[in-house]
Amino acid sequence: MATYLVEVNDLWKSFGKIRAVRGISFRLEPGQIHGLLGPNGSGKTTTLRCIVGLLRPDRGTVKIAGEEISKTDSYKRTVGYLPENPSLPEYLTVEEFLIFSAKLKGLDAERVRRDVSHLMDAFGLVDVSDRLIYELSKGVRQRVAVSASLVGEPPILIMDEPFNGLDPEAQKTTKDFINITVERGGAVLISTHLLDSAEKICNYASVIAEGTLLQSSPLYELKRYNGGKSLEEIFIEMVSRRRIRKIDS
Ligand SMILES: Nc1ncnc2c1ncn2[C@@H]1O[C@H](COP(=O)(O)OP(=O)(O)O)[C@@H](O)[C@H]1O
Ligand SMILES: [Mg+2]
Repeated sequence: MATYLVEVNDLWKSFGKIRAVRGISFRLEPGQIHGLLGPNGSGKTTTLRCIVGLLRPDRGTVKIAGEEISKTDSYKRTVGYLPENPSLPEYLTVEEFLIFSAKLKGLDAERVRRDVSHLMDAFGLVDVSDRLIYELSKGVRQRVAVSASLVGEPPILIMDEPFNGLDPEAQKTTKDFINITVERGGAVLISTHLLDSAEKICNYASVIAEGTLLQSSPLYELKRYNGGKSLEEIFIEMVSRRRIRKIDS
């Protein structure tokens, strides 16, 4: 049994001349709610896309549950992925899409029915279960996308800006599912620029700027080293110190 649920090792990814990710490494252990924090354009989404195999890194490796993802497909059933600005099949109803997502996870018919009904209930989707995704507002679509990432109770959740467009109630439900996942021994990676939310839910933080990792440590250590300041203050200082160093060099 691998100790780490996710291992990102020296990841590099460029798009033409844009060096989006420059040598990022970090790990997720069971019980971790790991915030990947950074300003817009710092490489969070690119990192997450490499982790789930959507993008092939130029260099570096990603292991999920001990297996390198370039060598296997089996990790897809253990990972729940919520993309940034998810694009959902507009011609399916909410229920059809969730059933489809559950079947992709290889769940049996009874489990599909149970999971989909539980998620629709938890995320307030029962009343719109027969509506086409095409007809839904942005907030409801995000609730559908979050639900789809949670079907099958995956032990590893990779969520890109999960709280984007969610009302407070749906944010609370999402946090509850995240907490249940780690209580069962799973791990969650959340990319966000919302530091207040990150501070409330994460127990570990990796701060990135311009594709480079500035710090990766338990949240309590990060706060202790920085005199108990809020995550927002620590983050702003870290990113601006880096800017000053760049101007000096
Ligand atoms: N498919 C792409 N093609 C070209 N440039 C991209 C692509 N995806 C991301 N980038 C660029 O890479 C950098 C990092 O982007 P991204 O990973 O989306 O950052 P974040 O999620 O932290 O906002 C940005 O400069 C962005 O414009
Ligand atoms: Mg992003």
